[in-house]
Amino acid sequence: MKLAVLAGDGIGKEVTREAVNVLERVSNLFDIDVRIEQFEIGAEAIKANGSPLPERTLEGCLESDAVLLGAVGSPEFDDLLPEDRPEIGLLNLRKHLGGFANLRPAKSHPSLVNSSPLRPEIFEGTDLLIVRELLGGIYFGEPRGFSEDRRRAFNTLTYSAFEIERVARIAFDIARDRKKKLTSVDKANVLESSRLWRETVNNVAAEYPDVELEHLFVDACAMHLVTDPNRFDVILTGNLFGDILSDEAAVLTGSLGMLASATIGGKVDLYEPVHGSAPDIAGKNQANPLGAIECAAMCLAQTANKRQASEAIQTGVQKVLSEGYRTVDLITNADDVKVTTEEMGELVGRYATESANFTHAHRAV
Ligand code: IPM
Ligand code: MN
Repeated sequence: MKLAVLAGDGIGKEVTREAVNVLERVSNLFDIDVRIEQFEIGAEAIKANGSPLPERTLEGCLESDAVLLGAVGSPEFDDLLPEDRPEIGLLNLRKHLGGFANLRPAKSHPSLVNSSPLRPEIFEGTDLLIVRELLGGIYFGEPRGFSEDRRRAFNTLTYSAFEIERVARIAFDIARDRKKKLTSVDKANVLESSRLWRETVNNVAAEYPDVELEHLFVDACAMHLVTDPNRFDVILTGNLFGDILSDEAAVLTGSLGMLASATIGGKVDLYEPVHGSAPDIAGKNQANPLGAIECAAMCLAQTANKRQASEAIQTGVQKVLSEGYRTVDLITNADDVKVTTEEMGELVGRYATESANFTHAHRAV
């Protein structure tokens, strides 16, 4: 597997370093040939090359099987227009890679129930996955811009039936392999694009009679996520609603730093933690690398089709948490053992390889 690593801005460097270390240790153990190359993106790339997505980066990504991205965004560029900001590098990269289905799983870890802002009895057992449409909607709709006097600004929320169908099929397929429940989220009481979304999802549902489908308005979904997250299995939604709901779902698990995402359906798969560049803690060896490490696990399962190696990483993460190791964002009580970004990565790598060795040894017997 050829993997392009784009560490990007802020804590992106620290968390991807740990993810790559864990990935290399586990791949070595399982004899998986992973070739890693690093490229620049975002604010870093603007400073070095004048572009948030240099040509070399894009070419390197298009020649790879998968891309692992850290984070993009920096307050230095806050005053710039969207088209000049670091974020446009990521949006253009997504467009070129072509993946339109962004999978964001949020799961309750038994040893982290006290880190959730929700009461344990409400959050315990939650296991949901958001399928966010990633290449359409208001993020990319035209026309967009400012009026000449800059007293007005506009964006376009547009979806075609084709764009809705293809992401809906992915969501239904995933629901079929899980608890067979799909919640489609829209704002069909107000928006035409949402009416089409709902009709199209209903049409696709005819191909999946075994999957239970419900529709929710996005405001109601935001509420149910905090009152009864256990009611969800797979949530399907558009680009902007998915962006918002996934931060909400992420933080329920204990910290925004915990969540990974995989973007599929295009030429090259893209893996990104859901958290941002967190400039306030960048360079302090404090960031939670587990979201990025979970990306490495998703990449092994999805792109490389190496389930055992992927599970070894997940076992490593579980073990680290159940032993009480916490980066600062996860600390809730006096027994927690505070660790740095690097220590967390090292521990996951160690436990992941130990668990794999143990499984191997048992198989041999
Ligand atoms: C995310 C991020 C991005 C998005 C930004 C950095 C462009 O918030 O992946 O959720 O809005 O898609
Ligand atoms: Mn976001």
